[in-house]
Amino acid sequence: MTRILITSALPYINGVKHLGNLVGSQLPADVFARFCRARGLETLALCATDEHGSTTELAAAEAGQDVAAFCAVQHAQQRATGDAFGLSWDYFGRSSSPQNHELTQHFARQLWKNGFLDVRTSRQVYSNADKRFLPDRYVIGTCPHCGYDRARGDQCENCTRVLDPVDLISPRSAISGSSDIEIRDSTHLFLKQSEFVPRLREWIASHEGDWPVLVTSIANKWLDEGLHDRGITRDVEWGVPVPDDIADGALKGKVFYVWFDAPIEYIGCSMEWAASRDTPDAWKSWWFGDAAKDVTYYQFMGKDNIPFHTVGFPVTLMGAGEPWKFVDRLKGFNYINYEGGKFSTSQKRGVFMDAALEILPADYWRYYLMANAPESSDSNFTWDHFAGVINKDLADVLGNFVNRVTRFCVSRFDGKVPAGGTYGDEEQALIAELDQRVSACAGCFEALEFRKALAELRAIWVAGNEYLTRAAPWTAIKTDPARAAVGVRMGLNLVHLFGHLAWPVIPESARRIHAAIQPAPDIIPWPKEAMAGFLEQLTPGQPIHPPEVLFSKIAEEQIAEWKLRFGGS
Ligand code: MF3
Ligand code: ZN
Repeated sequence: MTRILITSALPYINGVKHLGNLVGSQLPADVFARFCRARGLETLALCATDEHGSTTELAAAEAGQDVAAFCAVQHAQQRATGDAFGLSWDYFGRSSSPQNHELTQHFARQLWKNGFLDVRTSRQVYSNADKRFLPDRYVIGTCPHCGYDRARGDQCENCTRVLDPVDLISPRSAISGSSDIEIRDSTHLFLKQSEFVPRLREWIASHEGDWPVLVTSIANKWLDEGLHDRGITRDVEWGVPVPDDIADGALKGKVFYVWFDAPIEYIGCSMEWAASRDTPDAWKSWWFGDAAKDVTYYQFMGKDNIPFHTVGFPVTLMGAGEPWKFVDRLKGFNYINYEGGKFSTSQKRGVFMDAALEILPADYWRYYLMANAPESSDSNFTWDHFAGVINKDLADVLGNFVNRVTRFCVSRFDGKVPAGGTYGDEEQALIAELDQRVSACAGCFEALEFRKALAELRAIWVAGNEYLTRAAPWTAIKTDPARAAVGVRMGLNLVHLFGHLAWPVIPESARRIHAAIQPAPDIIPWPKEAMAGFLEQLTPGQPIHPPEVLFSKIAEEQIAEWKLRFGGS
């Protein structure tokens, strides 16, 4: 039996995430983690806040807070919002944890010992106005590749290219806005990435076919453009300090670059998880050596993160010369746009996780976002489309089905699963269709094809509705009570099935649907047996409890109000 290790790209600590961040990392990772647990697989799902670096220092300064205090507050808030969204991490850690500090220094020492680090003098952007170096996001300017005029010094969010601050055209300080900037020398540690190109190519090629084309093409583009050795230290204060035993203390006072320590926190987080359970060594069998041979490791991320996971982090692991676990399945996502423009944290554009939950339950968002996940291309969130999907798929198709069947059972069968009659051709045809669809749906989840998986899920709900329309127990009851009993019994079995199948995607609603039939277990398992067995489980006479309205429709006035509040067109 394989064990499943899942990590999601670690959200930056600098404030609440927007739905675009969520759909490309934490949400699909959670849906997949739940699916794996529902299949009875031993699963470890990890996430953490990404706390170091210039982004954090800038955000803390803007909030007028000390960086450590800022991070503590933001971490707690992100965890609470994640919980409210149903993100069921086994552990939600912090890249600033002692475990990650120690592990990051360990990796750096290994790389140093193995000769993969160089001390070099490099050109850095220095701000005369701010009297300090401006690494990474401390500089804003025009992207030399695509001309985007708000590119940050570390990466252009428009074309995803990784940048060096000195390459920006018309650079200005993100602190003061000053363009009184000069280039000064500073000493840094460089990771000799270029030496790893053949190994990286071989490793990436070995995943052609099982990683999305988006992922392999971004990875290959990076290598094709010529992989430069990369500075992995910075002149900032908030980060993992470079230990004195590297380069005889030549890097005193500097810290590692956030993109060096953040992916290491995937492992660090598992150490935090293990420590929290008083089994401090339990992380090891997930990550290290032969003990981790039966682990399949899945990573989820937006496309801007792909270079760091197909090149940056693997180089750290390779260079360490120890038997660390590499990612097996890397799922990358495109972007989701907001009403035709960008979701943007810096410009506060779009819907953020906390505000989303103020207006609607998590499941509405979970369903919509996964049904429209930006897999093969960028997708677009509009309020009109969102309302259409919720009203149709969740309210009309799923919610209404559960309602119709359970209420009819109460009004005409005393609220108990009816006895009488046997499944006939109509039921056998449905069972055959569902056998095929349920396994297709599982196959899509296994293949990390979320849009297709949700399309199958919807098709299953539709098939149930169509069956009920044909069986029409409300008509049959007048002439053929046994026939009506069969229709209702099948309908209730379908409600039960829907509760099982929907749990990975809309866990809260799935529990309520399942509870209409019988109390739900913590993890609602994916059906193991064939549909013939699954759809005949309910015992005649067992009581049914119709839920309160499962999904309320979104009204025109609400859409108008939200467009105003969130700036939709
Ligand atoms: N914080 C980064 C982002 O949101 C992702 C970091 S992923 C990790 O884009 F691997 F570095 F942790
Ligand atoms: Zn660009």
